[in-house]
Amino acid sequence: MSKLYYLSNLLPVFLLFFFCLKTQLFGANLGVAAPVWEAALHLCRYFEDPSVELRGRRVIELGAGTGVVGILAARLGAEVTVTDLPLALPQLQANVSANVPPAGWPSAPPVVLPLCWGEDHLTFPSDWDLVLCADIVYLPETYPLLVETLAHLCKNGAVVYLSSKMRTEHRTQSFYEEHLQSRFDVELVLRDDKQNNNIYRASKRAEE
Ligand SMILES: C[S@@+](CC[C@H](N)C(=O)[O-])C[C@H]1O[C@@H](n2cnc3c(N)ncnc32)[C@H](O)[C@@H]1O
Repeated sequence: MSKLYYLSNLLPVFLLFFFCLKTQLFGANLGVAAPVWEAALHLCRYFEDPSVELRGRRVIELGAGTGVVGILAARLGAEVTVTDLPLALPQLQANVSANVPPAGWPSAPPVVLPLCWGEDHLTFPSDWDLVLCADIVYLPETYPLLVETLAHLCKNGAVVYLSSKMRTEHRTQSFYEEHLQSRFDVELVLRDDKQNNNIYRASKRAEE
């Protein structure tokens, strides 16, 4: 499929998302789960890269917030599960419902489920093709839990894409260089200097 085809398809999809998501934001009580973060938009744009195949793939998103990344992946043909803390799920479900494509979901409607890193990851299977993460590396106390969760989800070879604003105050770099690299092969695939946003691809090493 040509790049032009992707771009012409994505533009209306983006416009639709921002309109619908805006109408669905639950605001005040949701804290960081309420807005669409820049890192999510970077990851959505990265879906245009020909190396990222979504159609027909089994995908799980962690810390989905508004769900923009997972919903776009589902609209591009992936079979998606979007997850977040229980508090964020009503907004997530409402955004999924507000973004049904006119012709229906190409594969299946995104499934919305609670997943708190390091707590209930073991209730999820390990047979994903892709794990998506946008701006979820910002709480140093959760970094070991996040690695534990990713290691479980990727047991059978899933590839992880993580888009991160590289915040010094949150030691984001240390997550990638110390925590994640202890169990995964990690590659920086895209950097936006202006917005200080990195996208990494990671695959679990077969050491366990
Ligand atoms: C900065 S927001 C990013 C939201 C969305 N991915 C985006 O980029 O627009 C971080 C998300 O991680 C979720 N989160 C924070 N701690 C979590 C935890 N321990 N387990 C699961 N999700 C968590 C928050 O609820 C929030 O939705």
